[in-house]
Amino acid sequence: MMDEVQIRLRVNGADRRGRVEPRLTLADFLREHCHLTGTHLGCEHGVCGACTVLLDGAAVRACLVLAVQADGREVTTIEGLGTPENLSPVQVAFQENHGLQCGFCTPGFIVSVTALLRDNPDPTDEEIRAGLSGNICRCTGYQGIFKAVRAAAGNTP
Ligand code: FES
Ligand code: FES
Repeated sequence: MMDEVQIRLRVNGADRRGRVEPRLTLADFLREHCHLTGTHLGCEHGVCGACTVLLDGAAVRACLVLAVQADGREVTTIEGLGTPENLSPVQVAFQENHGLQCGFCTPGFIVSVTALLRDNPDPTDEEIRAGLSGNICRCTGYQGIFKAVRAAAGNTP
């Protein structure tokens, strides 16, 4: 076993500490140490986007970031964006526009779209497509997701 490293970070506004192996990914730290299983793991090599979280506000793939790289930083997961009783505007838009089916990809999409609309509140169709291009969905055909982003941006067709 490799020597463990002490890390301390903020996750969804709460202090989290842990002793982790240097090779542990941020995704596994969130899921196994913090029990925040809303961050999903699909491909585990940076392709599907299911593991997307915000790291100091930037959307990143948590399967490609080591937990030790998040030391001293701020992480927001899907659990930090909304709760079942208090959904975020992006979550409401996905629900109302059939932006999900099985839901496996959904946390990653919601986190990516939240960052997209924060940085560009009124995206063009092309900008929405580019913003969604890092996330893969096997179910929806993307039309509902696209519609949800437009709705969340206050730009329904
Ligand atoms: S699980 Fe991280 S990109 Fe697919
Ligand atoms: S809703 Fe099933 S993978 Fe996207």
